[in-house]
Amino acid sequence: MMTDPSFEHCQPTIHVFPTATDAADAVALHILEKVKDHPKAVLGLATGQTPRRVYARLIEAVHNGAVSFDQATTFNLDEYCGLPATHPDSFAAFMRRELFDQSDFADSRVNLIDGSATDNQAEARRYAQCLQTSGGIDLQLLGLGTNGHIGFNEPGSDAGSRVRVVDLTEDTLEANRPTLLQLDAVPGKAITMGIADILDARKIIMLATGEAKAEAVCRSLEGPESADCPGSYLLRHRNVHWYLDADAASLLADRG
Ligand code: F6R
Repeated sequence: MMTDPSFEHCQPTIHVFPTATDAADAVALHILEKVKDHPKAVLGLATGQTPRRVYARLIEAVHNGAVSFDQATTFNLDEYCGLPATHPDSFAAFMRRELFDQSDFADSRVNLIDGSATDNQAEARRYAQCLQTSGGIDLQLLGLGTNGHIGFNEPGSDAGSRVRVVDLTEDTLEANRPTLLQLDAVPGKAITMGIADILDARKIIMLATGEAKAEAVCRSLEGPESADCPGSYLLRHRNVHWYLDADAASLLADRG
């Protein structure tokens, strides 16, 4: 399904590294530079396996005294519905384990979606309002689903979508199952920032590594823009930096 084929596409910056470790280290440096220059930056953060090394490097930088995040604001992309922040499989718990508990982000400036909300629609509206009040995201870190999703904007998502409740696809339920710590199955619903929320960010960093991501990377970067591969919506943004390892870049005609 094509969307808005008349849209003028922009040239993303593509950085290809020999290994996933190199790519993650480069992303960490990019974020550190941003926060050193703009300590009050609003950061959009992702969960998943890919950014774990990035967060480890940010923690190191805080411990070395190279940076402080105490003035920064964060917004996470998404959360499973039905999981309280105390549940080890919630994205809130992931963020605490992988970043917040070991660094110096101020609790009052960390924004997370409440997966335990009794009214998910109301929670989505609350989060959208917080995003708006923040003045917008300066730097959004993204990962890419093997099916091309960004955040939990699954194939079929609209370019104009905003924070909302979504059904996860079979691909995503399958892809995320091995990462579960306690649950047997991935929750079927989530709340996610929308495509339009992501595209509102002033800068986007996409980190994708591993052969499993190669096809989605290729479809996102080579187009055509299509709701079938939400990563291709990033072609609309004027300030996107792709950080890839050689495996994820392996299907690209032009490897940057
Ligand atoms: C997570 C998120 C997802 C992941 C994507 C890749 O907050 O929004 O879009 O970025 O599923 O996940 P990993 O890194 O586990 O391959």
